[in-house]
Amino acid sequence: MKRAVCPGSFDPITYGHIDIITRASAHFDQVVVAVLENRTKSSLFTVAERIEMIRETTSKLPNVVVDSWSGLLVDYCKSNNIESIVKGLRAVSDFDYELQMAQVNLQGSGVETMFMATAPTHSFLSSSLVKELAHYGGDVSTMVPSSVNEALKLRVAGK
Ligand code: PNS
Repeated sequence: MKRAVCPGSFDPITYGHIDIITRASAHFDQVVVAVLENRTKSSLFTVAERIEMIRETTSKLPNVVVDSWSGLLVDYCKSNNIESIVKGLRAVSDFDYELQMAQVNLQGSGVETMFMATAPTHSFLSSSLVKELAHYGGDVSTMVPSSVNEALKLRVAGK
């Protein structure tokens, strides 16, 4: 069985993530969406909340499962016999960091990273931008599914 992991902090999941997960699911027998810690970011939602949002918004994709891991991504891949990492590339600004991570991951463990070009409609979209807009009452309804939008409204209102 060919399995791939789509890793990320998913804080929260956006239509950009869903696009990559959906397209990856057409190329692998199973795609594991793994919520991992990004030590450079602070999170708005707990891991359990993020998992729930991903499960709900990818529920129509039968070969997608959701998991979490605290540790190195390559250790997750090794523990779960996953040989491929799939990541979306939005713009040149993503490239430097993503290339470094892909090379470190390859060198350390032989796990391959495959980059998928983000759909042009999502090229500016990020969870950080969504959180910033939501914080100031901006409209993010075209960027995240409605359930995520509702969760964001509640969270920025302090609930
Ligand atoms: O959605 P993000 O925040 O861009 O995802 C980044 C993430 C979580 C995939 C990355 O930080 C990660 O892989 N974290 C786990 C620890 C790890 O393996 N770091 C990479 C070492 S080069």
